[in-house]
Amino acid sequence: MRSIHLDTAMNIAVTFLPRHEPVPLPPIAFIGGGNMAKAIVGGLIKAGAAPSDFEIVEPSPEARAQLEHDHGIVALAEPGPALGRCGVVVWAVKPQAFAAAAKQVLGFAPDALHLSVAAGIPTQSIADWLNVQRVVRAMPNTPALVGEGMTGLYARPAVDAAGRKLVEQVLAPTGELLWVEREERLDAVTAVSGSGPAYVFYFIEALTEAAVELGLLPEQAHRLALGTFKGATSLALNATEEPAVLRQRVTSKGGTTHAAITSMESSGLKEQFKTAIRAAHRRAEELGEEFGRAS
Ligand SMILES: NC(=O)c1ccc[n+]([C@@H]2O[C@H](COP(=O)([O-])OP(=O)(O)OC[C@H]3O[C@@H](n4cnc5c(N)ncnc54)[C@H](OP(=O)(O)O)[C@@H]3O)[C@@H](O)[C@H]2O)c1
Repeated sequence: MRSIHLDTAMNIAVTFLPRHEPVPLPPIAFIGGGNMAKAIVGGLIKAGAAPSDFEIVEPSPEARAQLEHDHGIVALAEPGPALGRCGVVVWAVKPQAFAAAAKQVLGFAPDALHLSVAAGIPTQSIADWLNVQRVVRAMPNTPALVGEGMTGLYARPAVDAAGRKLVEQVLAPTGELLWVEREERLDAVTAVSGSGPAYVFYFIEALTEAAVELGLLPEQAHRLALGTFKGATSLALNATEEPAVLRQRVTSKGGTTHAAITSMESSGLKEQFKTAIRAAHRRAEELGEEFGRAS
């Protein structure tokens, strides 16, 4: 896992943490045992944690049976005193279910650090609902489900360096982490990396459709589009130059790439794309206000 700590726009420190080293974690509770919880738990077990290191609260009998089958964890149907042994409580319920779930958990884990992966719920609401101060809010994205996620993190001031480290260890199986120092920046994280996989899928779709229209078979088009995104991303990750420089390097005047980029520029594609990201950002702000009011 690579953890990036972003203090200000001018001060970025990047640290690399070992990916599969067993870590001395306290018992961890999960409220909600769905996709996100399973991705984290599965990754931690792979890294050396034992099924007995987890308490999972999950109302659905089918989901509880799945957790027992996949990971040997006997989940709780509702919160109870067992949560008291947990040093971290991970909130992995849907945003609209958070306030009701918090009411049920209230008082069972007063000393734990609370880590929410629920989109849009402000830490102030979580602190109020649970009467706690040590709250971290995470904004993961769907590639977290395959260990390739990009997660933005914000910690309330009551969370110290050891608390942040603990959160990094819990989320290590999901991929890369980036700390932001102001909570409202999580709305930007939501608009960029949270919704971002959908933008990438959209461009993969467009490239695939164009390839088919040019006469390639759908399977060929699909492979070319996916392989191009994967390869270009890999090249950008390994390069010291900015993507703009990499792009200019393959855009010789009068060539094919130049023809395509000129067409994109003249139709204002980049500006339209940035307008779309701003729309996602506005929606993240609105949803935060809506969810934060629920109680
Ligand atoms: N999946 C992703 O890639 C992703 C990415 C970014 C953020 N997130 C965030 O992660 C959170 C979880 O997402 P998910 O995809 O894991 O959702 P999910 O698969 O629906 O899991 C949520 C689980 O919580 C259970 N639940 C509902 N009410 C509960 C309660 N009161 N106490 C305990 N558990 C309860 C649900 O049971 P029922 O089905 O019976 O209601 C469900 O099994 C969401 O807030 C989402 O915004 C997810």
